[in-house]
Amino acid sequence: MKFLQFSVLPFLIVILSLIGATLAHPYGDFLHCLSLRISNSSTTSKVIYTQNNPSYSSVLNASIQNTRFSTPTTPKPYAIITPRKTSHVQSTIYCSKNHGFQLRIRSGGHDVEGVSYVSQVPFVILDLVNFRAVKVDTKNEVVWVQSGATTGELYYGIASKTQTLGFPAGICHTIGIGGHLSGGGFGILGRKYGLAADYIIDAKLIDANGRILNRKSMGEDLFWAIRGGGGNTFGVVLAWKIKLVPVPPVVTVFTVNKNLEQNATKIFHRWQYVAHKLPNDLFTAVWIMKVNSSQVGNKTVQAGFRGMFLGGVDELIPLIQHEFPELGLTKENCTQMSWVQSILYFGGLPIQPVEILLNRNALPRSSLKAKTDFVKEPMPETGIEGFMNMFLEEEADFAIAMIEAFGGKMDEIQENELPYPHRAGILFESTYIVQWTNEEDAGTYINWIRRLYSYMASYVSKSPREAYYNYKDLDLGTNNVNGYTSYEQASVWGLKYFKNNFKRLVQIKTMIDPMNFFRNEQSVPPLWSP
Ligand code: FDA
Repeated sequence: MKFLQFSVLPFLIVILSLIGATLAHPYGDFLHCLSLRISNSSTTSKVIYTQNNPSYSSVLNASIQNTRFSTPTTPKPYAIITPRKTSHVQSTIYCSKNHGFQLRIRSGGHDVEGVSYVSQVPFVILDLVNFRAVKVDTKNEVVWVQSGATTGELYYGIASKTQTLGFPAGICHTIGIGGHLSGGGFGILGRKYGLAADYIIDAKLIDANGRILNRKSMGEDLFWAIRGGGGNTFGVVLAWKIKLVPVPPVVTVFTVNKNLEQNATKIFHRWQYVAHKLPNDLFTAVWIMKVNSSQVGNKTVQAGFRGMFLGGVDELIPLIQHEFPELGLTKENCTQMSWVQSILYFGGLPIQPVEILLNRNALPRSSLKAKTDFVKEPMPETGIEGFMNMFLEEEADFAIAMIEAFGGKMDEIQENELPYPHRAGILFESTYIVQWTNEEDAGTYINWIRRLYSYMASYVSKSPREAYYNYKDLDLGTNNVNGYTSYEQASVWGLKYFKNNFKRLVQIKTMIDPMNFFRNEQSVPPLWSP
């Protein structure tokens, strides 16, 4: 007793008061709430990761693609919840809402501004890493895919059942279905079929009140909004039913690299006039980046003309020779492969077994900043020259502009068909990305991309200067961290991302989540919110 009184008792008092303090803090209440609801303890340990959990950091970092947001000073979540059942998602929503924690939903973690795993206010992450089933039904040409699956897992699932069906989503195979489909989703089948979001035919969504909704029960307005109106805005989408599209068993891919000394500027100038008018079966893109020049020690800028044709090489060569002879495409530039292999090709991976699509860590991660533009009029040659020359600057050592031709099916879909409005009349979309290795230099690189963006202002879409929501750019404006964001304030970026669809998105948001529970820096706000 004496021992207990003088040695253990003070420790016990400290521990008990610490537990008391934790419980008094909303975080303690939150955890208590969640643990009660996720009551099976063996499950709880694999579902709730608090900061004391030895696996907390590895679970947090597992899918952070932009390492700019994984520094010691980056705000960290109080807890990460990796639900294994729908009821775990409902419990997380209930407890976060009732105990004042902001919820950040994460599927693939590829948000370029990190908004799925960073917040300036106390927050928890709902990480859907355990929701990644892919159920392919080739007879009806549909798939139920859970949000935590990657595009790679989806593509692999389809290709392991059939060689003649595909899905028109993004190029990189590690992006998550949840965020990707929530913002549109454009890839190498885009000119032929449109966006990934154009092929969503049903969804399973949990709203802010924990209700489980499908297309029928959510109604057509909300179903419209979740197909491109942005993630973490209307609810948690657990799964999507998508329609597959036909692809031939053999497609042809090609790359032709031209640098400044090989007329890259002139060929790119010409590409602007032809790429959007080519047959829908042919997708082309131009990747601009700095490379070594043939003169030792010198640098130049390369325009890499890349393409994917839904057919054989013998049909492709005469087609290009007729429509775009300036490219000088030869058989040597081309490779025939399956559609699913072409995903690896465009992702910059060497030809290898498609099982690599299941590897979520197959691509290098880096610190980056991205911006996007949509171009409606061909740029003059002088404008292209200035643009290319900016890639010779020191800060552009790890920069790239990925310029993707539109036209085709994108021209045929009405601007208000889905929230994503960038359709008819767009010649191409440009995604500019700058990367760096030393976090201390981040400002210099970010300044470079801002200068590039300013330079491009006179050549791109205007009033509004359109931007692609899937590559969020917080430079365009943000919601207030706490409290109300007015319609006018949000319109600054909302109209760039959604044009006239923004108003409808705000109305739907006001109906489904008037208290603005689901939110992030650029989520659509309701008309009146706390
Ligand atoms: P992440 O998990 O970070 O979520 C993104 C946003 O969606 C967040 O706001 C998040 O809260 C929300 N969210 C996620 N899951 C949700 C769910 N289940 N329910 C509700 N909200 C949810 N785009 C493109 O169109 N074509 C392309 O080829 C590429 N390629 C590409 C390559 C690389 C390397 C990067 C980093 C990005 C792209 N993108 C792209 C952009 C990509 O489509 C975009 O970043 C997606 O939002 C990524 O989805 P994740 O689920 O991975 O992101």
